[in-house]
Amino acid sequence: MKAFSTAFIIILVVSVFNSCYYDNEEFLYGGGAACTDTISSYSGSLKSIIDSKCVACHNNPGAADNFSTYDGVSGRRDAIICRVVDKGNSCNMPVMPPSNDLTECEIQSFKLWQQNGFRE
Ligand code: HEC
Repeated sequence: MKAFSTAFIIILVVSVFNSCYYDNEEFLYGGGAACTDTISSYSGSLKSIIDSKCVACHNNPGAADNFSTYDGVSGRRDAIICRVVDKGNSCNMPVMPPSNDLTECEIQSFKLWQQNGFRE
């Protein structure tokens, strides 16, 4: 009986602690949407976001901000993170894109790209 109650207490304690362990994206990243991207890389998910939301304006071949290639995007990575993730605040510049219409999950992909070392 004693062994049984000890086991019971251990199970109880473990399950109480487990229920307080917030390992979900909503808690970690904020925003209501459950984003599917968890390890962002340029080729993995960022390219399609940039192609549809940035390249229409940032596409001059030879320009420093030609975002149609990895090199172009990577070369301006700090400015991009500031404009998109930080909405331009820390560099004191306007948010990008100007329409400010990226979804929380799209912004999170930029954030993850930075956290994962700007992988190609
Ligand atoms: C409707 C056109 C348009 C779209 C779409 C757009 N931009 Fe821009 N972007 C501009 C213009 C115009 C400038 C120059 C004025 C300025 O600096 O705010 C600029 C400047 C920038 C700069 C600063 C230039 C540099 O090389 O440091 C960055 C970084 C940038 N945009 C990133 C982005 C990203 C990332 C996206 C997509 C998520 C995007 N932009 C979408 C028009 C656009």
